[in-house]
Amino acid sequence: MRILGIESSCDETAAAIVEDGRRILSNVIASQADEHKQYGGVVPELASRRHCENILPVVKKALADAGMTLDEVDAVAVTYAPGLIGALLVGVSFAKGLAMMSGKPLIPVHHTEGHAAANYLVHPELKPPYLGLIVSGGHTRIAEVLDYTEFRTVGKTRDDAAGECFDKCARAMGFPYPGGVHVDQAAQRGNASAFKLPRIKMDGNPYDFSFSGLKTYIVNLLHNTAQKGETLNTDDLAAALQHEIACTLTDKAVAAAKELGYKVIALSGGVSANSGVRSTLAAACEQNGITLYQPPIALCGDNAAMIASQGYYNYLAGITADESLNALASKELRGESRKAGSPA
Ligand code: KG4
Ligand code: ZN
Repeated sequence: MRILGIESSCDETAAAIVEDGRRILSNVIASQADEHKQYGGVVPELASRRHCENILPVVKKALADAGMTLDEVDAVAVTYAPGLIGALLVGVSFAKGLAMMSGKPLIPVHHTEGHAAANYLVHPELKPPYLGLIVSGGHTRIAEVLDYTEFRTVGKTRDDAAGECFDKCARAMGFPYPGGVHVDQAAQRGNASAFKLPRIKMDGNPYDFSFSGLKTYIVNLLHNTAQKGETLNTDDLAAALQHEIACTLTDKAVAAAKELGYKVIALSGGVSANSGVRSTLAAACEQNGITLYQPPIALCGDNAAMIASQGYYNYLAGITADESLNALASKELRGESRKAGSPA
């Protein structure tokens, strides 16, 4: 089954064709990052306008790269939540139009579930159940992936996502948006033990995260240093920040895997591109006899191949939508709301 995936939840307009959820036939991404850079972050209305301009050429290119026509596509999968509402609406409306016009099934995909599916595109042996660590600019979550379409959150951030912490600290360090990758590069030149950063101890669920205290500490440290006319070593600070985030993510994910009896962890999301997160988690998994799956860097950030992959499994589970599909700025993972007593 060949699925056309469409993604427009933030500042990437993306389309891809994936066969049977696992084989990428094409994968096209038009990033707007360079344009948003001048504002220091994503400007929602600008993002929507660019999606409007880019979506048709991107979908056409995805079909052309796969050597296919729309007729040869079996279904259309689209990110409908969560994300910037105006941005999501472009992809949802476009996908709805395509599906209705061609008579193909329309498959709604949750963006975070899509990130988790990125690993299916490169690790044929990976199958649920496993423990997912999904870390992006908007989300930080440890979730049991009980089945392809059944998730149970073990812990999530109570405030900022890890990617947001990377980006806001990067901005205060003087790096352009999106700053995570610049922190990563600086960290490779720095000495992480040059700064002792605060680690928040969580009340209640030990697998929840909180990154806003770390962000505020670093932003204040940089402002206070600048106010005094002093300088500090940004490479060392970047290394310390990266070390702190990598250790926090790793410690919690490995502890959750041990407590819940998982022998497999799959990392995903934009922050999974971070070299410190990848190596720290890999070392801890190896030490604890846990198999770690991580996507290649190209599939860590937002893309539509992951949406088409998750779309395939949604379709197999009977999850399709009709013309009433709408975009949602926030939405729990599938299976979560059912646990809380309402239909998922
Ligand atoms: O998954 P993603 O592309 O978009 C969301 O769903 O949010 O994640 C984007 C986030 C940004 O915060 C970006 O700075 C971060 O992923 N990121 C990184 C790296 N590459 C991307 N953070 C740290 N190190 C990196 N190498
Ligand atoms: Zn994302």
